[in-house]
Amino acid sequence: MSEVKVSRETFNDVMVPNYNPPAIIPVRGEGSRIWDQQGTEFIDFAGGIAVNALGHSHPRLVAALKDQADNLWHLSNVFTNEPALELAKRLTELTFAERVFFCNSGAEANEAAFKLVRKYAFDNFGPEKNEIISFEKSFHGRTLFTVSVGGQKKYREGFEPAPGGITHVEYNNLEALKEAISDRTCAVVMEPVQGEGGIIPATPEFVKGVRELCDQHNALLVFDEVQTGAGRTGELYAYMGMDVTPDVLTSAKGLGGGFPVGAMLTTAKIAESLGMGTHGSTYGGNPLACRVALEVINTLSDEKLLADVKRKFGLFVDGLESIGAKHGIFEDVRGSGLLVGGELKGEWKGKGPRFLAAAREEGLMLLVAGPNVLRMTPSLIISDEDIKEGMIRLERAVAKVVAEGADA
Ligand SMILES: Cc1ncc(COP(=O)(O)O)c(C=O)c1O
Repeated sequence: MSEVKVSRETFNDVMVPNYNPPAIIPVRGEGSRIWDQQGTEFIDFAGGIAVNALGHSHPRLVAALKDQADNLWHLSNVFTNEPALELAKRLTELTFAERVFFCNSGAEANEAAFKLVRKYAFDNFGPEKNEIISFEKSFHGRTLFTVSVGGQKKYREGFEPAPGGITHVEYNNLEALKEAISDRTCAVVMEPVQGEGGIIPATPEFVKGVRELCDQHNALLVFDEVQTGAGRTGELYAYMGMDVTPDVLTSAKGLGGGFPVGAMLTTAKIAESLGMGTHGSTYGGNPLACRVALEVINTLSDEKLLADVKRKFGLFVDGLESIGAKHGIFEDVRGSGLLVGGELKGEWKGKGPRFLAAAREEGLMLLVAGPNVLRMTPSLIISDEDIKEGMIRLERAVAKVVAEGADA
C-alpha cells in the first residue's frame, strides 16, 4: 500500500464544496470489487453511476488504452483520427444513426442535441419553432441549458435567468404532452427510463404516443440515453426494445466504460443543421477516448452479454424484494436491466442516504436516485457471486438501519 498523502480532510481544504464524499478514498478496482486507501474491500453496485459498464480494469479496455497511449493521444478537431472514425462507423452500423458528434460528457452530448434541434427547426421551419418540451423529474446534465431542459427546479435555482422556450410536463402522461405540444415545438426530450428522477421506466404506450405527437407536429424526438445506453437496459440502446426510433440520441457514461466520452447520434438529414463552424469541442473525438469506447461498444454488442443483463435484473429484483419482505422498507422495486431502484416506503422515505452509509460500513457501494430510491447501476458483467455477496451485505446494512429506527 502506498503512503497516504491525501485524505478526506484534504477535500475540504482544496476542493469546491459542491460534493460531499464519504471518508473512504478508493484507490484500486478490479471487476466489481474496489479497495480503499486502507485496503478495505467493497463490492461495487454503483458502477461509477452507470459508467463502469465492464467493471474496473477490464483487460480489453486496459490493453486498448495502453496501445493507444503508445501511439497518439490528442489532435483536436483540426484533424480527424482513426479511433474516432472507427467508433462513429461502428455506432452508425449498430444504431438508427447515420452521423455522430463526439464530446466528453452526457451534459455536452445533450447540449449538442438541444442546439441541434433548435437549429434544425430554424433551418427548416423558421425561428418561431423553438420550443423544447421535456419532463418533470428528468435529468439531462449540469450546464445551464441542460439544467433548464431538466425537470428538477433545484438544479436551476440561483443560476437564473435560464434559457427560455422550455416547457416541462408530467412523465408518462400523454394527455399533458398533447396539451403542451404545438407547431412551435421543435423537440421533445426524454429519458427512456428516468434515472436520477427515481428509476421510472416510460410505459410502452407513452413512448409510442410521444413519437406520434412529435410526427404530427414536425418536432424531433430526442432520447437522452446517457444513463440507459451502452447496454444498461439489456439492449445496446434502450430504444431498441421500445419499438420506437428517436431522431437524436445522446450517449455517454457507459460508452467510455470509465474514460470520459460523449456522443450525439442522429440522421444524415438532421445532421446537416450542424454545418461547418456551428458547434465544436477541443477534446471531442479524442483518440484515447474513442479507442476505449470502441472496445466498450465491441464488447457490449454481444447478444449473450445483453441477454445476461436482463437475467441479472431478475437477481437484483429477487434480492431486493426478499430484503424488502423481511424488513418492510420497499414500496416498489423496479427498473430495466442493470438500472435498478428500490423505492423506500412509509417512515423510510427520505432516508436513502442512511442506507447508503450503512451499506458502505458493510463493504457495499450503492447509490440513491433522490432521497427515496436506492439505486443500483453495477458493471454489466458483474458475476452472480458478487451480486449474491452484495445482497448479503445490503441485508446486513438494512437490518442495522431498521434496528436503529427511522428517527435515529
Ligand atoms: C440521463 C442523463 N443525462 C445526462 C446526464 C449528465 O451526464 P454527465 O454527468 O456526464 O454530464 C446524466 C448524468 O447522470 C444522466 O443520467
